[in-house]
Amino acid sequence: MKRIVILISGRGSNMEAIVNACRAESWPAQVVAVIANTVKAAGLRWAASHGIATEAVEHKAFADREAFDEALAARIDHHGADLVVLAGFMRILGAGFVRRYEGRMMNIHPSLLPAFPGLHTHRRALEAGCKASGATVHFVTADLDHGPIVMQSVVPVRHDDDEVALAARVLATEHRIYPRAVRWFVNDRLRIESRIVHQLDGEPQLLL
Ligand code: GRF
Repeated sequence: MKRIVILISGRGSNMEAIVNACRAESWPAQVVAVIANTVKAAGLRWAASHGIATEAVEHKAFADREAFDEALAARIDHHGADLVVLAGFMRILGAGFVRRYEGRMMNIHPSLLPAFPGLHTHRRALEAGCKASGATVHFVTADLDHGPIVMQSVVPVRHDDDEVALAARVLATEHRIYPRAVRWFVNDRLRIESRIVHQLDGEPQLLL
Protein backbone atom coordinates (compact mmCIF):
# COMPACT_ATOMS: atom_id res chain seq x y z
CA MET A 1 0.00 0.00 0.00
CA LYS A 2 1.63 3.24 -1.14
CA ARG A 3 1.15 6.34 0.97
CA ILE A 4 0.40 9.51 -0.97
CA VAL A 5 0.71 13.02 0.45
CA ILE A 6 -0.84 15.80 -1.66
CA LEU A 7 0.32 19.42 -1.39
CA ILE A 8 -2.12 22.17 -2.37
CA SER A 9 -2.46 25.95 -2.18
CA GLY A 10 -5.98 26.52 -3.45
CA ARG A 11 -9.22 24.87 -4.50
CA GLY A 12 -7.67 21.43 -4.99
CA SER A 13 -9.68 20.11 -7.93
CA ASN A 14 -6.76 17.94 -9.05
CA MET A 15 -6.49 16.61 -5.50
CA GLU A 16 -10.19 15.69 -5.64
CA ALA A 17 -9.73 13.88 -8.94
CA ILE A 18 -6.85 11.85 -7.50
CA VAL A 19 -8.62 10.98 -4.24
CA ASN A 20 -11.76 9.96 -6.12
CA ALA A 21 -9.87 7.81 -8.63
CA CYS A 22 -7.80 6.18 -5.88
CA ARG A 23 -10.96 5.12 -4.08
CA ALA A 24 -13.13 4.28 -7.10
CA GLU A 25 -10.42 2.20 -8.78
CA SER A 26 -9.16 0.62 -5.53
CA TRP A 27 -5.52 1.52 -6.13
CA PRO A 28 -2.96 -0.17 -3.86
CA ALA A 29 -2.55 3.27 -2.31
CA GLN A 30 -4.09 5.76 0.05
CA VAL A 31 -4.03 9.53 0.22
CA VAL A 32 -2.87 9.77 3.83
CA ALA A 33 -2.67 13.55 4.11
CA VAL A 34 -3.33 16.81 2.31
CA ILE A 35 -1.01 19.62 3.32
CA ALA A 36 -1.38 23.27 2.31
CA ASN A 37 0.92 26.24 2.73
CA THR A 38 -2.01 28.33 3.94
CA VAL A 39 -5.11 27.55 6.03
CA LYS A 40 -7.04 29.47 3.39
CA ALA A 41 -6.65 26.68 0.81
CA ALA A 42 -10.25 25.69 0.09
CA GLY A 43 -9.23 22.13 -0.77
CA LEU A 44 -8.39 21.45 2.88
CA ARG A 45 -12.08 21.48 3.75
CA TRP A 46 -12.97 19.05 1.00
CA ALA A 47 -10.20 16.67 2.08
CA ALA A 48 -11.22 16.84 5.74
CA SER A 49 -14.85 16.17 4.86
CA HIS A 50 -13.67 13.08 2.97
CA GLY A 51 -11.87 11.63 5.97
CA ILE A 52 -8.34 12.66 5.03
CA ALA A 53 -5.86 14.14 7.52
CA THR A 54 -5.24 17.79 6.69
CA GLU A 55 -2.78 20.35 7.88
CA ALA A 56 -1.38 23.72 6.98
CA VAL A 57 2.30 24.60 7.17
CA GLU A 58 2.02 28.38 6.89
CA HIS A 59 4.89 29.59 4.74
CA LYS A 60 4.50 33.07 6.22
CA ALA A 61 5.48 31.76 9.64
CA PHE A 62 9.03 30.96 8.48
CA ALA A 63 11.97 33.29 8.11
CA ASP A 64 13.21 31.79 4.85
CA ARG A 65 12.58 29.11 2.29
CA GLU A 66 14.97 26.62 3.90
CA ALA A 67 13.12 26.76 7.22
CA PHE A 68 9.75 26.35 5.47
CA ASP A 69 11.03 23.46 3.34
CA GLU A 70 12.38 21.73 6.43
CA ALA A 71 9.10 22.06 8.34
CA LEU A 72 7.13 20.85 5.33
CA ALA A 73 9.43 17.85 4.81
CA ALA A 74 9.08 16.94 8.48
CA ARG A 75 5.29 16.79 8.11
CA ILE A 76 5.48 14.82 4.86
CA ASP A 77 7.86 12.33 6.44
CA HIS A 78 5.65 12.10 9.52
CA HIS A 79 2.96 10.70 7.21
CA GLY A 80 5.45 8.25 5.70
CA ALA A 81 4.91 9.42 2.13
CA ASP A 82 5.98 7.14 -0.73
CA LEU A 83 4.79 9.74 -3.23
CA VAL A 84 4.42 13.51 -2.93
CA VAL A 85 1.86 15.00 -5.33
CA LEU A 86 1.97 18.73 -6.00
CA ALA A 87 -1.53 19.78 -7.04
CA GLY A 88 -1.66 23.52 -7.51
CA PHE A 89 1.02 24.02 -4.86
CA MET A 90 2.20 27.59 -5.39
CA ARG A 91 5.49 27.68 -3.46
CA ILE A 92 8.86 27.16 -5.08
CA LEU A 93 10.67 24.34 -3.32
CA GLY A 94 14.42 24.47 -2.70
CA ALA A 95 16.97 22.11 -4.23
CA GLY A 96 17.46 20.17 -0.99
CA PHE A 97 13.75 19.51 -0.67
CA VAL A 98 13.50 18.42 -4.29
CA ARG A 99 16.50 16.08 -3.94
CA ARG A 100 14.96 14.49 -0.86
CA TYR A 101 11.90 13.38 -2.87
CA GLU A 102 13.66 12.74 -6.17
CA GLY A 103 11.82 10.22 -8.33
CA ARG A 104 8.82 10.26 -5.98
CA MET A 105 7.43 13.76 -6.35
CA MET A 106 5.13 14.78 -9.22
CA ASN A 107 3.66 18.06 -10.37
CA ILE A 108 1.05 19.14 -12.88
CA HIS A 109 1.61 22.25 -14.93
CA PRO A 110 -1.03 23.83 -17.19
CA SER A 111 1.02 24.04 -20.37
CA LEU A 112 2.78 21.80 -22.82
CA LEU A 113 6.19 21.87 -21.15
CA PRO A 114 8.88 22.85 -21.91
CA ALA A 115 6.74 25.72 -23.29
CA PHE A 116 5.60 28.28 -20.73
CA PRO A 117 7.06 27.25 -17.38
CA GLY A 118 6.04 29.57 -14.53
CA LEU A 119 2.86 31.63 -14.16
CA HIS A 120 0.09 32.88 -16.49
CA THR A 121 0.50 29.98 -18.90
CA HIS A 122 -2.88 30.41 -20.62
CA ARG A 123 -2.40 34.14 -21.19
CA ARG A 124 1.05 33.49 -22.62
CA ALA A 125 -0.21 30.70 -24.90
CA LEU A 126 -2.93 33.04 -26.23
CA GLU A 127 -0.47 35.92 -26.71
CA ALA A 128 1.89 33.62 -28.59
CA GLY A 129 -0.91 32.60 -30.96
CA CYS A 130 -0.59 28.92 -30.05
CA LYS A 131 -3.08 26.70 -31.83
CA ALA A 132 -2.83 24.02 -29.14
CA SER A 133 -2.17 23.99 -25.44
CA GLY A 134 -2.50 21.44 -22.68
CA ALA A 135 -1.11 20.16 -19.43
CA THR A 136 1.94 18.21 -18.32
CA VAL A 137 2.47 15.81 -15.44
CA HIS A 138 6.16 15.58 -14.64
CA PHE A 139 8.54 14.40 -11.97
CA VAL A 140 9.90 17.35 -10.05
CA THR A 141 13.51 18.36 -10.42
CA ALA A 142 15.33 21.43 -9.12
CA ASP A 143 14.54 23.20 -12.42
CA LEU A 144 11.18 24.95 -12.00
CA ASP A 145 8.46 23.24 -14.09
CA HIS A 146 10.92 20.95 -15.81
CA GLY A 147 11.72 17.36 -15.10
CA PRO A 148 10.91 14.03 -16.76
CA ILE A 149 7.48 14.13 -18.44
CA VAL A 150 5.05 11.40 -17.37
CA MET A 151 2.00 12.41 -19.41
CA GLN A 152 0.64 15.30 -21.45
CA SER A 153 -2.78 16.36 -22.67
CA VAL A 154 -3.41 18.50 -25.72
CA VAL A 155 -6.41 20.75 -26.34
CA PRO A 156 -7.16 23.12 -29.21
CA VAL A 157 -6.88 26.86 -28.70
CA ARG A 158 -9.94 28.47 -30.32
CA HIS A 159 -9.78 31.86 -32.02
CA ASP A 160 -12.30 33.35 -29.58
CA ASP A 161 -10.74 31.88 -26.43
CA ASP A 162 -9.94 33.99 -23.42
CA GLU A 163 -7.83 32.89 -20.45
CA VAL A 164 -10.84 31.61 -18.53
CA ALA A 165 -12.15 29.48 -21.38
CA LEU A 166 -8.75 28.01 -22.20
CA ALA A 167 -7.97 27.32 -18.53
CA ALA A 168 -11.26 25.44 -18.13
CA ARG A 169 -10.59 23.30 -21.22
CA VAL A 170 -7.09 22.45 -20.01
CA LEU A 171 -8.25 21.81 -16.42
CA ALA A 172 -10.79 19.23 -17.58
CA THR A 173 -7.91 17.26 -19.09
CA GLU A 174 -5.74 17.71 -15.96
CA HIS A 175 -8.39 15.80 -14.04
CA ARG A 176 -7.97 12.91 -16.49
CA ILE A 177 -4.19 12.74 -16.81
CA TYR A 178 -3.07 13.37 -13.23
CA PRO A 179 -4.94 10.43 -11.67
CA ARG A 180 -3.66 8.20 -14.47
CA ALA A 181 -0.05 9.25 -13.89
CA VAL A 182 -0.36 8.69 -10.14
CA ARG A 183 -1.97 5.29 -10.71
CA TRP A 184 0.99 4.27 -12.86
CA PHE A 185 3.37 5.32 -10.11
CA VAL A 186 1.59 3.44 -7.33
CA ASN A 187 1.44 0.34 -9.52
CA ASP A 188 5.19 0.63 -10.31
CA ARG A 189 4.46 1.05 -14.01
CA LEU A 190 6.91 3.91 -14.66
CA ARG A 191 10.63 3.86 -15.37
CA ILE A 192 12.86 6.87 -15.97
CA GLU A 193 15.81 6.36 -18.32
CA SER A 194 17.99 9.31 -19.32
CA ARG A 195 15.22 11.73 -18.29
CA ILE A 196 12.62 9.93 -20.44
CA VAL A 197 9.66 8.39 -18.60
CA HIS A 198 8.47 5.06 -19.98
CA GLN A 199 5.06 3.54 -19.22
CA LEU A 200 5.94 -0.13 -18.87
CA ASP A 201 2.65 -1.45 -20.32
CA GLY A 202 2.79 0.84 -23.33
CA GLU A 203 -0.26 2.78 -22.18
CA PRO A 204 -0.50 6.13 -24.01
CA GLN A 205 1.27 8.98 -22.26
CA LEU A 206 -0.55 11.47 -24.44
CA LEU A 207 -4.22 12.45 -24.20
CA LEU A 208 -5.52 14.11 -27.35
C1 GRF B 1 -4.05 23.73 -12.10
O1 GRF B 1 -4.30 24.37 -13.31
C2 GRF B 1 -2.63 23.19 -12.09
O2 GRF B 1 -2.20 22.77 -13.33
C3 GRF B 1 -1.83 24.40 -11.64
O3 GRF B 1 -2.65 25.03 -10.70
C4 GRF B 1 -4.02 24.69 -10.93
C5 GRF B 1 -4.51 24.06 -9.66
O4 GRF B 1 -5.89 23.81 -9.68
N1 GRF B 1 -0.54 23.99 -11.17
P1 GRF B 1 -6.53 22.94 -8.53
O5 GRF B 1 -6.14 23.58 -7.20
O6 GRF B 1 -6.03 21.54 -8.66
O7 GRF B 1 -8.01 23.06 -8.76
